[in-house]
Amino acid sequence: MKPPLNVVILAAGKGTRMKSARAKVLHPIAGKAMLAHVLDRARELAPEKISIVIGFGADEIRTTLAAQTDIAWATQEPQLGTGHAVLQAMPQLTNAGVTLILYGDVPLITRETLAALVAAADAHTLAWLTYTVLDATGLGRIVRDAAGAANAIVEHKDATEAQRAIREINTGILACPTAWLNDWLPTLGNKNAQGEYYLTDILALAVAAKRNVATISAKSEWEIAGVNNKNQLATLERTHQHNIASTLMEAGVTLADPARIDVRGTLTCGADVSIDINCIFEGTVTLGARVKIGANCILNNCRIGDKTDIAPYSFIDDAVIGNNARIGPYARIRPGTTLANDVHIGNFVEVKASDIGTGSKANHLSYIGDTTIGAGVNVGAGTITCNYDGANKHRTVIEDNVHIGSDVQLVAPVTVGKNATIAAGTTVWKDAPADALTLNTKAQVSNSAWVRPTKKK
Ligand code: UD1
Ligand code: MG
Repeated sequence: MKPPLNVVILAAGKGTRMKSARAKVLHPIAGKAMLAHVLDRARELAPEKISIVIGFGADEIRTTLAAQTDIAWATQEPQLGTGHAVLQAMPQLTNAGVTLILYGDVPLITRETLAALVAAADAHTLAWLTYTVLDATGLGRIVRDAAGAANAIVEHKDATEAQRAIREINTGILACPTAWLNDWLPTLGNKNAQGEYYLTDILALAVAAKRNVATISAKSEWEIAGVNNKNQLATLERTHQHNIASTLMEAGVTLADPARIDVRGTLTCGADVSIDINCIFEGTVTLGARVKIGANCILNNCRIGDKTDIAPYSFIDDAVIGNNARIGPYARIRPGTTLANDVHIGNFVEVKASDIGTGSKANHLSYIGDTTIGAGVNVGAGTITCNYDGANKHRTVIEDNVHIGSDVQLVAPVTVGKNATIAAGTTVWKDAPADALTLNTKAQVSNSAWVRPTKKK
């Protein structure tokens, strides 16, 4: 049986090079704080305890994650090095288990690599994650003996010329029996080039005590890459988006260009979905089979039914759309909207908090707010629901098979009965009866004596 697992996430560093008032680990990748990505990976391992070590920006970090009650906070003040940082978390951990050390600014570490590392560690084995890079400048080097066993980590600033030639580096991530950390961390010294208590010194302590040390190699450089500045943040954002795009394509989604899609949340697609360039998906988005998304669309927390087309430049926010619908181009679907099957919403149409029934259409230049529309309704160009009286919002009800002509205003609260026709240009301020034509009486006159003004010379 595996011993209980603890996770410690280091997040106390200042992040000076981010040039930001915000705590470094709160800067987002795919719309979510880097620290939150690391927390997600930690939770996948079902640990007994997660402790986060904070220092710079501690209040902001705690406030941001206040709702997450499974976190034990440890404060490191001042920051005296990575060994000192882990020491601050030790009182919160179960001494019996293994402790995994992660970093709030290393956001793309993968589930697979952590699973392999944790599997390699146990109550009698320290497992260390390393990686071989092309340029190891600035990083801690893994020093191996003649037999190939790792026996020390030397920081770049403390390394000899020969050690600097080593390209296998310390990722900082490791899984160590908690009891060993409790023994060793209080004994660390700081007589080194940086005057810091180095977590990395525990490798040599393990070797001196003849303990088992295993090393595991990460799969790619991006998963162990830390973020110290905005360039590195943007680079990892692209890597992350590329990974998501690649997973979507492996699942059969057609992407016009995998470099031009941004998923900031969870995108789930049915068979044969195709997505054109420059689309953004936020929150939880589900696309049915054969859905087509045109260029430059933004979809936020929505569900789109099978075979529905979302034409370019549409923005869909917190809505449910049925099958075979046609939305856009240039449609704006706002929160609380449900569109049934076969609905058409065309260009420059805004729909808010409304339900629209099967086969109904609003194809041009309309505002539909706080409205219930039945099935088979046609809403003419330029139709506006006047839902706001300056103080309160009111509902409009349009029953099945109504035909609304162009440029109609519906002054809510108002109901248009089944099969009614509303003439073009009508202002409907009283309920319009079913099965009847409703219009406003107005006269049309022509004046042949009228002269069109001309520009003064
Ligand atoms: C560290 C490692 C180095 C490794 C590199 C990988 C040590 C001594 N060195 O070096 O071997 O190759 O990471 O990126 O561990 N932190 C705290 N409190 C502190 C100091 C650091 O919480 O007192 C946190 C930082 O916020 C950061 C992480 O620990 O997330 C690493 O600290 P950093 O100062 O960047 O260590 P490096 O010098 O890069
Ligand atoms: Mg660093």
